[in-house]
This record gives sequence, C-alpha cells and structure tokens, in this order.
Amino acid sequence: ADVAGKTAFITGGANGIGLGIARALVNAGANVVLADIQEQALAEAREYLGADDQVRTIVLDVTDREAFAKAADQTEEWFGNVHILIGNAGIGIGGLVADATYDDWDWGMGVNLGGVINGLVTFLPRIKKHGEGGQIVTTASKAALIPIPWSSIYIAAKSAVLGMSESIRGELAPDNIGVSAFCPGPVQTKISDSGKLRPEKYKENSGYREFEENLEKRPNSPLWMTKEEVGERVLKGIRQNDLYIITHREFKEGTKTRFDAILASFPDEEINEERKEAISFLTSN
Ligand code: NAI
Repeated sequence: ADVAGKTAFITGGANGIGLGIARALVNAGANVVLADIQEQALAEAREYLGADDQVRTIVLDVTDREAFAKAADQTEEWFGNVHILIGNAGIGIGGLVADATYDDWDWGMGVNLGGVINGLVTFLPRIKKHGEGGQIVTTASKAALIPIPWSSIYIAAKSAVLGMSESIRGELAPDNIGVSAFCPGPVQTKISDSGKLRPEKYKENSGYREFEENLEKRPNSPLWMTKEEVGERVLKGIRQNDLYIITHREFKEGTKTRFDAILASFPDEEINEERKEAISFLTSN
C-alpha cells in the first residue's frame, strides 16, 4: 500500500530502528507518531526528523495498556485515522538461561512480546473500524530465524512475534490490512544500552545485571547497517506488503540449515488419505 498521507504509530520510535523507519515514512509523505519511554530522546528524534507538520511524539511505556489507549486517542486527535502500526519497541536482554529470574523473564517478555500485543489490541479494532486498510509491522529479529545462545528470553519473545505475525496475516487480509514481520540482522542502534531502561522493580532480583553492564561496553560496528538503510527496507516491505522483511543476506545459509534440519526430522511415511483430509483445516490458511 502507498503511505503518502497515511498515519503511522511507531513504538520505540525515539532511537535506532524505529527512528530509521520514521525517517523513511516521513520522506515518503506519511504522518508519524513516535511513542517511546525516553522523553529526551523523543525531543532529539523530532529535531532529527524535521518536517514538523508530519511528526508528533508521545511518552509511552508499551507495557502500560491504559496509556496505550490514551496515546491512540491522542494520535487520532492529531492526525485522524491510523493506518500503520509499527510494533518495534524492544530491549536487548541476554545472559545464561540458568541466571534468569522471573524478573528478567517478565521484563523481557513484557516489552518484547507484550508491547507488540498491546499495540495490536489497541490499534487493530481502530484500523478495522475506519475501513481504509492498513499495515501491521512487527519488529522480530534475525534471531527469530536463527536462534542464538545466551538469549533465551529474547528469542522466546521474538519467535513469538514472528509466529504471531504469520498467523494473523491471513485473518486480516480481507480487511485490507497487511502484516509484515521485520527480521533485521545487526543494526547500529542504542540496543546495548537497554539495561539502563530496566525498571526499578525488575532490578533487585535480576540475574542479568552484570551481563547488561558488560553489554553497554559493546561498540556498534560501522559495518552494521544504519537505521536509515533498514528504514528504507521496511518502507519497501510496507509498500509491497511483504510478509517477511529481511535485511542481511549473510544469514540465508544459517536459516536454510535450520529449516533443513526441521524438514529432515519429519517422519518419512505414507500419508493416509483419510487422515490427510481430517487435518487439512489446520493448514488451510
Ligand atoms: P534502540 O535501543 O536504539 O531503540 C529501542 C527504543 O525502544 C528506545 O528508544 C527505547 O527507549 C524504546 N523502548 C524500550 N523499552 C520501551 C518501553 N517499555 N516502552 C516504550 N519504548 C521502549 O534499539 P533498536 O536496535 O533500534 O531496537 C528496536 C527493535 O529492533 C527492538 O525490538 C530490537 O529487539 C529489534 N532488533 C534490533 C537489532 C539490532 O541489531 N539493533 C537486530 C534485530 C532486532
């Protein structure tokens, strides 16, 4: 779908990938609302984007459902109907699974999966209701395609985001609402500073504080993609209603290895016609 004159709501829009997507959308003539927990970064993002008529910012914690509904109301007051939801806010959370406490799981799943769900529950009825169609973009990760160690919480959330996006695509197509799962590889962003965003209530009993402090020292590689590059890819994916938006060619073989292993694990036996029919509804979408 074309984006000119449409309105996009972008969570985690104050930095990194969300801001790169905002850049591309604004250049293409869309209105954008950047929603983020970091007020100062929102102000800087607005400065970076310019285009004052097309940009608004709002402080939002994506785990706060009431605030989400208010942010949606506010967005409609500013720009009218919302067409594009970019469920992008996320945190880098990593460490050994044996060190993870409930606080680590709750924070990681709450933001990286719960935040996407809250956006969907808030905006989907509104997008359906206005009937002008739209696009749901979720930021999963390359890590949802090739799971990596030391990342159990992150992978659990991102795999769920990917699978959920695949599942809803067929359901929403009749309403002219597209769905894209964005699976970026490494991008130059502030994700290594995520530990600084950990809420007070999840600090004391965390098993991951040391890991987070070390992560803060990890520099961005200049070889990683820029937020502007990935923003353009997402824009293209929105225009084409691509189910998967993928950035890095480098991970193609690894992804193939994973899916080959899955395929190789299927039992190699005759499929009984009756049974085939009995389960056909499970794959009809
Ligand atoms: P970033 O840290 O530069 O930007 C994330 C933004 O989300 C920040 O502005 C932060 O304040 C915001 N945020 C965090 N918790 C929030 C909350 N509870 N409510 C509202 N906003 C919140 O990081 P980046 O890399 O741009 O991350 C964006 C998304 O991209 C995340 O979902 C991340 O998991 C994903 N991703 C990033 C990759 C990378 O290499 N940078 C690779 C694959 C996926």
